[in-house]
Amino acid sequence: MAQLWGGRFTKETDQIVYDFNASIRFDKRMYAQDIAGSIAHVTMLAKQGILTESERDQIIDGLQGILRDVESGSLAITEEYEDIHSFVEANLISRIGDAGKKLHTGRSRNDQVALDMKLYTRDQIDQLDSLLYQLLSVLHRLMKEHMDTVMPGFTHLQKAQPVTLAHHLGAYFAMFVRDRGRLLDIRRRLNECPLGAGALAGTTYPLDREYTAGLLGFDRATANSMDSVSDRDYLIELLSALSVIMMHLSRMSEEIIIWNSNEYRFVELDDAYSTGSSIMPQKKNPDIAELVRGKTGRVYGALMSLLTAMKGLPLAYNKDMQEDKEQAFDAMDTVRGCIALFIGMLDTATFHRDVMENSAKGGFTNATDAADYLVMKGVPFRDAHGIIGALVLRCIEKNVSLDDLPLEEYRQVSPVFQKDIYQAISMEACVNRRLTKGAPGRKAMEDAIRENERYLTEQPPARSEKKQ
Ligand code: ARG
Repeated sequence: MAQLWGGRFTKETDQIVYDFNASIRFDKRMYAQDIAGSIAHVTMLAKQGILTESERDQIIDGLQGILRDVESGSLAITEEYEDIHSFVEANLISRIGDAGKKLHTGRSRNDQVALDMKLYTRDQIDQLDSLLYQLLSVLHRLMKEHMDTVMPGFTHLQKAQPVTLAHHLGAYFAMFVRDRGRLLDIRRRLNECPLGAGALAGTTYPLDREYTAGLLGFDRATANSMDSVSDRDYLIELLSALSVIMMHLSRMSEEIIIWNSNEYRFVELDDAYSTGSSIMPQKKNPDIAELVRGKTGRVYGALMSLLTAMKGLPLAYNKDMQEDKEQAFDAMDTVRGCIALFIGMLDTATFHRDVMENSAKGGFTNATDAADYLVMKGVPFRDAHGIIGALVLRCIEKNVSLDDLPLEEYRQVSPVFQKDIYQAISMEACVNRRLTKGAPGRKAMEDAIRENERYLTEQPPARSEKKQ
């Protein structure tokens, strides 16, 4: 047991208490953030004359050595330390001696952990943003390729009206653009540095908090020291944004699973992104999409867990807050992994244009257009709706589509029908007449794709100003 706080205690912590309390098992992944924060802190302490330049240099050397050794694998972060902060400080002292004991001047683990977690979250946001950008780029390529791939659009999972694959994928493009917007918004709001808040009430040393904030790439120092050490809003916001991302990925997974089924065959997933069955030799399963759909629950769970952990906490720091990490880390890992897999799965998938188009032709997806045809010829829409409904019933009885129903039959129901009905209800005409902004018609789609192109050029992934 290596603790920072033995002074006022007369006996050792019980081992099970120690284990229950310790966080090193999961906070060790913040070693780089902890060290970066400490380097900024001592740089500021020396600027303020609180440490000498020589003390600062010894400490920074020592910290950089620890970082190097952890990254090379020669220094293991073991569970004999309570948390990552104790590990770094204890190692520093054993490396450089007395100067190391000054590292924690004007600082508490409460503002330290608040800083580490913000730095870690900020870096995760940047990684997620860059992954979402790659996903958008794959969608963009597919959209450009499939502007003329007609497919049925569904409501209630019943064929509704013909759309194109580009249009369908464009819906997901819009969702992931919003997801990026949410991430960047959270990043902007979290980007205030809590260091210098101390345990809760600031400190008596003349710290320059704005200076430390600047060194670490923050926009400013936080406003209130009690809020600084007890704020986990940014993490709740991130878990909420991650939940929405997973909801989007899960909906798309569901569609891919359906489209990849033997019944639909709209898409075939690459062998590299599918799995087999141990008993049924013919099987090729969309396990990746199913897992993404399945993992959505654990990300929602992390959000609910942290919301609940925070709800009754009095100001300022309480140990409950240590529970912010495990599930949040798991959620971040999960979402990063899911987006990365989605990029590969979509990039290697084959969409079967002919199957999609045939499917759009069955199921009366052009019934609305047939009604619109009558409206164009002067029939009120409500009457047109009834006429086409009757024709659809006929088609169902004869097992034909509206495209194959002979003109005499059309004319038996309404004399308004002419030969040009067939052209008017062709899939191509149905799609390409839908030209309102955001609709699947070729011209509207070209505009949408141009907009997407501009978005991808103008909003490349944000990287942190300072790499930790
Ligand atoms: N491991 C703690 C956490 O994750 C660090 C802060 C500890 N502070 C304290 N006063 N015990 O929240």
